Amino acid sequence: MGILMKFALKNIKAIIFDLDGVITDTSDLHTKAWKKMADEEKIPFDNETSEKLRGVSRQKSLEIILEDAKNKYGFTKTFTDEQFKELMERKNNYYVENLYFITPKNLLEGAKDVIDFFKSRGYKVAVGSSSKNARLVLKKLEIENYFDVVIDGTEIVYSKPHPEIFQKVADKLGISCEKCAVVEDAASGIESANTAGMVSIGIGQEDRFKKENQITKLRFDNMKDFLIYLYDISLPK
Ligand code: BG6
Ligand code: MG
Repeated sequence: MGILMKFALKNIKAIIFDLDGVITDTSDLHTKAWKKMADEEKIPFDNETSEKLRGVSRQKSLEIILEDAKNKYGFTKTFTDEQFKELMERKNNYYVENLYFITPKNLLEGAKDVIDFFKSRGYKVAVGSSSKNARLVLKKLEIENYFDVVIDGTEIVYSKPHPEIFQKVADKLGISCEKCAVVEDAASGIESANTAGMVSIGIGQEDRFKKENQITKLRFDNMKDFLIYLYDISLPK
């Protein structure tokens, strides 16, 4: 392990976790719900577009879907504000229906151990999720009381990649941004963390984080590998 990697978490006092795709595997459920709505409306929707939706708000997601459908497939149908709202609601209903089946078994492998690792060493732990359903998901995972601070999609004005969400978490924790690290599976979330001046930790394949402000300080393929790294650097207990 490189020396820079070993000291990447030096001076860090708080770890902020994204939820969908980091703590649990709900990103697939978001995709499924968008796909169902898009199929019903005959809106072209491919994997590349679906990948762009990671981390971004419901409204921004639908904007991206329609923009890509137009630019890539020449989909020209337009929707009134009311119809746009209905499409978002329909997608959300499909998503929430599937949340019924979420249990602690849906925690991603290593995720709870990573959170426990930091908690037991006196770090503040928090969640910063764009999802308006974040608290419900945390409840279903039975970790709703696990975090010092939770900020979700109901408490922000600007969607990731804007830094607002993580700045709000830091404010509420009373810890300055440069002492916070963010764990994120989305390029948009890494951009938020970098812009906020936090240490960014990417979860996912390297090619996901490719633009200039999406470069991560640390990156692991999954939470299990992050856990192995943490045991390797042996932060003091
Ligand atoms: C993020 C997901 O966590 O939350 C996005 O990565 C999703 O895919 C966003 O669009 C908003 O979620 P919700 O539950 O408020 O529609
Ligand atoms: Mg995510």
